[in-house]
This record gives sequence, structure tokens and C-alpha cells, in this order.
Amino acid sequence: MKHSEVTELFENHVLQTYGRFPLTFVKGKGQYLWDSEGKRYLDMGGGIAVNILGHAHPDLQKALSEQSQTLWHCSNLYQHPLQGELAEALVHQIGDGKIFFSNSGAESNEGLYKLARRYGHAEGRHEIITFKQSFHGRTLAGIAATGQAKVQEGFGPLFSGFQHAVFNDLRSVEERISPSTVAVMLEGIQGEGGIHPATPEFLLGLRELCDTHQLLLLWDGVQCGHYRTGFFQSFQSLLHHQEADTSFLPDAISMAKSLGGGFPIGAFWVRQPFSTLLGPGSHGTTYGGNPLACSVASRILQLIQEQSLDQNALKMGSRLQEGLHKLQLQFPDKIDEVRGMGLMLGIVLRNDGATDSAPSMALVKSLHQEGMLTIPSGTHVVRFLPALNIQPHEVDEALHLLEHTLSKH
Ligand SMILES: Cc1ncc(COP(=O)(O)O)c(C=O)c1O
Repeated sequence: MKHSEVTELFENHVLQTYGRFPLTFVKGKGQYLWDSEGKRYLDMGGGIAVNILGHAHPDLQKALSEQSQTLWHCSNLYQHPLQGELAEALVHQIGDGKIFFSNSGAESNEGLYKLARRYGHAEGRHEIITFKQSFHGRTLAGIAATGQAKVQEGFGPLFSGFQHAVFNDLRSVEERISPSTVAVMLEGIQGEGGIHPATPEFLLGLRELCDTHQLLLLWDGVQCGHYRTGFFQSFQSLLHHQEADTSFLPDAISMAKSLGGGFPIGAFWVRQPFSTLLGPGSHGTTYGGNPLACSVASRILQLIQEQSLDQNALKMGSRLQEGLHKLQLQFPDKIDEVRGMGLMLGIVLRNDGATDSAPSMALVKSLHQEGMLTIPSGTHVVRFLPALNIQPHEVDEALHLLEHTLSKH
């Protein structure tokens, strides 16, 4: 089907909620996607941190097709081995606790809000402190939790009970704690807000603050999790931080995106002793922990371990980051800053002095012409969220395409 025919179908039949780029993709393999006209693109956006093993990975194809021969769906009225095994594998990555399976990031975060409400219910505490520039999903509670006015516009009155503090600023959190506060929720690296990593000092301070005030510390690991930073969750890099207290652990963690590598699945982990707060009848979802999704997610975790893809994320992340820093030196009038961790990196662009108020969109579009996909993050940041199994020559190709584009841009 031609791009123009697909566009017509979308215009006529698909709700126009996304600002889509005029591209129609029909095939993917490894780090590449092909559009309907046969043009190849290097995928450095990874479906916004989803395609953790690239496209059409043969081992994931095998896992999915084998599972499809035996059991597709099994209601949560019953149990099946795959859900239990995946829960065990996830708990093993984090710590003592239990898992609930959902279908998306926003839905996983909903679980965290409900957990917090249950936790504070007897004392009448319900407020959750989140952060400016954060992003927690598009449900009604999700947009209220999100610290960005643009996702809230026109949907008021907003779901109540969220306060927005300044990221990496402990004082700002402290100022918002009231007798109604029950939890603090943050992303380890703000993704949609422009690739802002939480500092180790901030995380350790938050843990202390939460302990002092008996608040739950909720971690949104939807975009920054699943070994993207070289660690299952980015806070685990604290263990490698010399002066850091190594006992940092959130009370709950939400996951989605890379967890299923493109097959929809979400989850949240709840630390002991809080894992009894959501008891029978308190929470549920039809598809959560579906056998097909669990088979893919389990295989992904195995492959990451078998092939040391956490180490590859660190190595390829350093290679990409070094290359981006070189481009910053080469194009100081265009690149203001490079930031992020592992394979979650962003370049902050300067305004070109003309009327263009969103240099990120302009660069992303120019890169499309060169055959590379990246993700804008707000008006000034372009994100790189490639697959964890990316190879050195593919990182170099991305840097070459970016250099070529910047020299013409
Ligand atoms: C940090 C974070 N939380 C939650 C979400 C929402 O996830 P989903 O789109 O799967 O609902 C996103 C999506 O971009 C995200 O980046």
C-alpha cells in the first residue's frame, strides 16, 4: 500500500490525536526500518525506548510463535507458569517484593497511585508529589501527575492530589510535604521532559525524606528502565557511586516499553512489606500477564543476560556520547549540551536565531531525509533511545548521519 493511501485511511478513520510525521513503515529488521517507498532508516529512537532488541529479532519471533501454539490468553481468574516465572525474574532484578502485570506505562503508574492511596487511606493522606517536566502517561490521573501543562490543557478539572516540585531540588520537595502527603514519584531520567537524570545526592536525599515522613517513594522506570542505562533501573548505578549509601531502593517501580520489546506489556513491583496493600479484589486488568506477552518479556531478559547487553548498553552509550560531544565541539552554534546515561541520550539544541521555535523538530525532520529516526523531546532536545544490541558500526553510522545533517542544517 502506498504512503498516500495509508495517509487517506488515517485521515478518514483514525482519531487525529498524534502529531505524526509523514512516514509509513512496512518492515523492520535489526536496527533498521523500511518505509512504504522502500527507503531504509537507521532506528535510533527504538519506538521511544521500546524496541530493546531491535526489529524482528529471530529469538523473540521464535518465543512468540512457540507460545502461540499452546496458550494465548488465560484469565487472571487462573494462573499460568509464564506469569509466575516472569514475576520471579523481575523481582530478582530489583529486590524483595511482588509484581502486578498491566499493559502499558500509564496503567502501571495508575497502580502506583492506587498503592499510595491505600497506604495513606486510614490516615486521610492522599497527595503525591511529582516533578515539573515529568511525564507519567495520558490517563486522567497520569496527566495530573505529569508536570507539563501542555498534556493537561482542556481536560480540567484535573484529578486532584498531585503537587509538582522542582526536579533535583530537595528543598522544593520538602516545602510541598503536608499532613496530606503520602508519596513522592519520579522518573530516574526525565525522558519526555528533555533527558534530565536525577542526581545520586537527590535520590539519597529523597529516600531519607520519604523515610522521615513515612512517604512511599514511587519510581517511574517506564522509559529509563530495563538496562537502558546499563543497569536494570538507573538508581542501581548508585551502587557504583563512590560516596553513595548503597541502600537506596524505591518502594514501588513501574515498567513497560522495553519490558516487552514491542509486544504490549506493563508491570509494577511493590517492595515488602507494602506488597500486601493491594489485596484480592483491589486491582485487576483482563490482559495483565498475558502468556504471549510474558513469553516475549522472559526471553528478552534471558537474552540480555546471555549476551551481556547491559554491558553493551554501557559501551555503545559511551561511544555515542563521545561522538556527540565531538559534534558539540564541531558545531558549538548548534549543540548546546549532551546529556543522559547509557543508551538514553539527548542533545540540547540552540535556537538558530531565526523564527524557528522548535529546533528539535527541524533536526528530526532533516534526519528523516538522511535516513535516520530520532525522537524530539520538547522544543530543544533530540533523543537517542536505540536498541541495547546496537553495534559499533551502527553507532558510527548514526554519528556520521548526524554530522552530515548538521553541516547542511
Ligand atoms: C516515564 C514515562 N511514564 C509513563 C509513560 C506512559 O507509558 P504508556 O505510553 O505505555 O502508557 C511514558 C511514555 O512515554 C513515559 O515515558
